[in-house]
Amino acid sequence: MSFIRKLTEKLKKSSNSSTTTDLTKDARSSQPIIITTTAKLVEEPPLPTKTPAARAQASVQTRGVIVQNNDKRASKVRQKYQLTDFHIDRTLGTGSFGRVHMVRLKSTGKFYAMKVLIKNDVVRMKQVEHTINERNILARLDYPFLVNMLGTLQDSANLYFVLEFIQGGELFTHLRKSGRFRNNVALFYAGEVILAFEYLHNRDIIYRDLKPENCLIDAKGHIKITDFGFAKEVPDITWTLCGTPDYLAPEIIQSKGYGKAVDWWACGILIYEMLAGHPPFYDDDHFKLYEKILACKPKFPSHFDPNAKDLVKRILTTDLTKRYGNLKSGVEDIKRHPWFNELDWQALEDCKIPAPYLPPCSKEGDASNFDEYPEDYEPYGLPGPDPYKSKFLDF
Ligand SMILES: Nc1ncnc2c1ncn2[C@@H]1O[C@H](COP(=O)(O)OP(=O)(O)O)[C@@H](O)[C@H]1O
Ligand SMILES: [Mg+2]
Repeated sequence: MSFIRKLTEKLKKSSNSSTTTDLTKDARSSQPIIITTTAKLVEEPPLPTKTPAARAQASVQTRGVIVQNNDKRASKVRQKYQLTDFHIDRTLGTGSFGRVHMVRLKSTGKFYAMKVLIKNDVVRMKQVEHTINERNILARLDYPFLVNMLGTLQDSANLYFVLEFIQGGELFTHLRKSGRFRNNVALFYAGEVILAFEYLHNRDIIYRDLKPENCLIDAKGHIKITDFGFAKEVPDITWTLCGTPDYLAPEIIQSKGYGKAVDWWACGILIYEMLAGHPPFYDDDHFKLYEKILACKPKFPSHFDPNAKDLVKRILTTDLTKRYGNLKSGVEDIKRHPWFNELDWQALEDCKIPAPYLPPCSKEGDASNFDEYPEDYEPYGLPGPDPYKSKFLDF
């Protein structure tokens, strides 16, 4: 318990976190707050200089640990681009070290998303290996419910990920607008996330940052998980403390070694949040939030589907020998649970099940499903010194 207190104090010190209780991105505990440190709470680097918008969004950024990249099987990135190949358009989202733009490839006129990371921040926050890891894992992925990366590039100041542009916006926005999802809607999205995790775990990749902000909806209404900033190849167990407070599994908070089961825990939180409209455990005070997670007594609203409640309870268990997803039959226990009785998993994977919601996408390049952000960033592609060149040779 003293560990949580220490962690909480550390967070408070470095946080300008809000004291409101609403569930907007800026206020709730699952906003893009990212805690990364080791179980030993190593000295954390100073916060990066950010634009006001990014600062408002990311109230705590104590990323301090490098994730070892041992992904020997990383495939070659498919294509090499140059920054001048693209028109840079509006901002779609602000990330921890930069922002994500809609861009247009001049040669074809096609739209993409471009995640920009500022090298200086990546290095200062000791995220070099981590960022390389993000790139190598993205390069390996090929699955309908995971965002597809087309390539990476860099200039002297920044790193750029070129991703397919997922037009329908964040599941977060859709959920907040709806309040909560009907049972069949939540079931559809949960099913696609579960298949995506099955794909990742079969490749020994833990995702570690599931939340509605990182789940995008494509133009046909299917889930595309983005943001592999915390993904890691972990055949057995790992110790890095990272994630988003509302979604942290108890074993992460307790600084135990942990494995793929943390993703199933986060899945349980997501199912609950989709059906209830708020996460099962939340509190403005991180210390209290972590206590609630460890006590693990979620309260279910009366409208909650009884089968969904049963499944969530079987996933949100602190006892790893009982947690669904982590037992002998693995993901099958989840897929065969009565909540999914009506679901044809093969049809779901083949995208043959019509999505419950089609986002309004009037034409290619319509980014109206994304929030607007101030466009106050440093211009890209300016000539200048590249002191970190040797750190990103493969990028
Ligand atoms: N491929 C994409 N298409 C459209 N928007 C995206 C895409 N990838 C990311 N975004 C938007 O940018 C936001 C930040 O990107 P993300 O990779 O999650 O950065 P961070 O690691 O800082 O959270 C996302 O929440 C989303 O709104
Ligand atoms: Mg994110």
